[in-house]
Amino acid sequence: MPDKKTMTTGFGAPIGNDLNTATAGGRGPALMQDVHLLEKMAHFDRERIPERVVHAKGAGAHGVFEVTADVTRYTRAAFLSKIGKRTEVFARFSTVGGERGSADSARDPRGFALKFYTEEGNYDLVGNNTPVFFIRDPLKFPDFIHTQKRNPQTNLKDPNMFWDFLSLTPESLHQVLILFSDRGTPASYRTMNGFSSHTYKWYNAAGEYFWVKYHFKTDQKIKNLTRQESDHLAGSDPDHATRDLFDAIASGNPPSWTLEMQIMTPEQAKDYRYDIFDVTKVWPHGDVPPLVIGKMTLDRNPVNYFTEVEQAAFNPSNFVPGIAASPDKMLQGRLFSYHDTHLHRLGPNYQLIPINAPRCAVATNYQRDGAMRTDDGGGSGPNYWPNSFGGPAPDASTLEPDYPLEGEAGRFPYSHPNDDFIQPGELYRKALNDMDRTNLVGNIVGHLGGAIPRIQKRQCALFAKADPELGQRVAAGLGLDASEINRLAAMTADERAAATAS
Ligand code: NDP
Ligand code: HEM
Repeated sequence: MPDKKTMTTGFGAPIGNDLNTATAGGRGPALMQDVHLLEKMAHFDRERIPERVVHAKGAGAHGVFEVTADVTRYTRAAFLSKIGKRTEVFARFSTVGGERGSADSARDPRGFALKFYTEEGNYDLVGNNTPVFFIRDPLKFPDFIHTQKRNPQTNLKDPNMFWDFLSLTPESLHQVLILFSDRGTPASYRTMNGFSSHTYKWYNAAGEYFWVKYHFKTDQKIKNLTRQESDHLAGSDPDHATRDLFDAIASGNPPSWTLEMQIMTPEQAKDYRYDIFDVTKVWPHGDVPPLVIGKMTLDRNPVNYFTEVEQAAFNPSNFVPGIAASPDKMLQGRLFSYHDTHLHRLGPNYQLIPINAPRCAVATNYQRDGAMRTDDGGGSGPNYWPNSFGGPAPDASTLEPDYPLEGEAGRFPYSHPNDDFIQPGELYRKALNDMDRTNLVGNIVGHLGGAIPRIQKRQCALFAKADPELGQRVAAGLGLDASEINRLAAMTADERAAATAS
């Protein structure tokens, strides 16, 4: 038997020569019987798997989550059941629009995806470094993403596509302002916050439920790049955030985040001034003060990038008892999309890949076979339910409690009386300081300046609706007539679209 150091074929047979292809004579053609060459080449030909359709560029690390407050009155989740309880996690951070080789410093939201290996199965929280999102209906997601990718003809990033869609989608403004503030270019993955963005549901052992939002606040302090720094890094060190995370952990400087929760009772939610299922809105901290409940520390680098990071499959529909979806339409759309894309990207048995498989629970069900089945496939046990041969059985005590739903089936726009410009205006006036505001305006002008004038005007009108000064400053930076922007801002969305159609 070859020892561990002997090079072998994929089937374990020793390889005698890995430098010279077998040929008919020294200068002759290659021989088909060089099975080692054939195997090696064929495997190489298949090395690439599809990259993620979004969030393709990323970095990951292992760590631990520790509970620091008693939250048992809000959730029955076992991994949150006790102060001091620790659960293994795997985190992946990413940019959104670029390809696998794109620059880490790009202006883009950053993905903040977590997998908790709990004793009740894997719980995934797939969030971003922003508390809100551009759109609130999943039907718009593929179109939105197309505008962030490359032009179908030129294969170039296209400011007209980018701003045409956003300026026709007023609910995007809140996220657009966050993206074009310096938080759109975090200095590293360690120096940014992570948010669930969506509202989720927690329920306790008595079946009472709550609406919640997750905020992972960086313990390294927020640190951002200016656009000049981010442009420079894109050329000089395009992998800077990947390197920063790996080096920090390797040098014994593990980054950590404090988990704060915003929690609302159903009674509080009923007449709340914002639609709590609208992912373009936050819950102001003054209304719902965040509660510190835990800490996540990332202290172990992956040993192999492909098997641990590239093959990681996060899914917002991976819940554990005590945590469930909310009616947020975007979230509901996501509950379908991730499993579906993993089947395409990684195959039907992607849950068996070690980084995705449960570590503290055992997966037992009647799903069988499929390509690349690598466990015992259920062994000789029954492959149907119900059975009377001792196969795994459902446990009704783990079900989410029933809750009332009603309504007519239809396609409804958001109709909450609160408009989409209040929170962006508050962000501009309240959360940003003078320097942030100046950088925001410069960042917008630098990018929007690449779009054609009628699109610039339409987008400027949205800035003016959030805050007249912001509209004026961007218009001035672009050399646009402020009175025309104010006229467009006073129109309805349909009138504005018609007035700027050509
Ligand atoms: P608060 O003053 O209580 O909170 C302001 C928040 O803004 C802080 O969480 C701060 O984060 C964050 N912030 C500061 N600069 C930026 C930026 N450039 N991009 C994104 N967030 C930033 O105010 P309110 O809760 O009343 O919210 C006011 C506005 O702040 C909102 O309209 C929203 O745009 C923004 N915001 C609100 C959040 C919330 O959950 N309520 C969360 C994040 C943003 P930090 O503490 O990390 O510095
Ligand atoms: C990745 C779809 C909205 C955060 C992905 C992927 C898809 C997808 C198909 C690729 C997954 C993979 O190949 O493994 C969607 C759809 C959305 C949506 C259809 C809306 C309807 C959001 C929102 C957030 C988000 C609102 C944040 C709050 C992420 C993150 C990843 C991701 C962090 C990367 C996960 C990883 O690191 O592997 N999304 N997404 N997405 N999405 Fe979304």
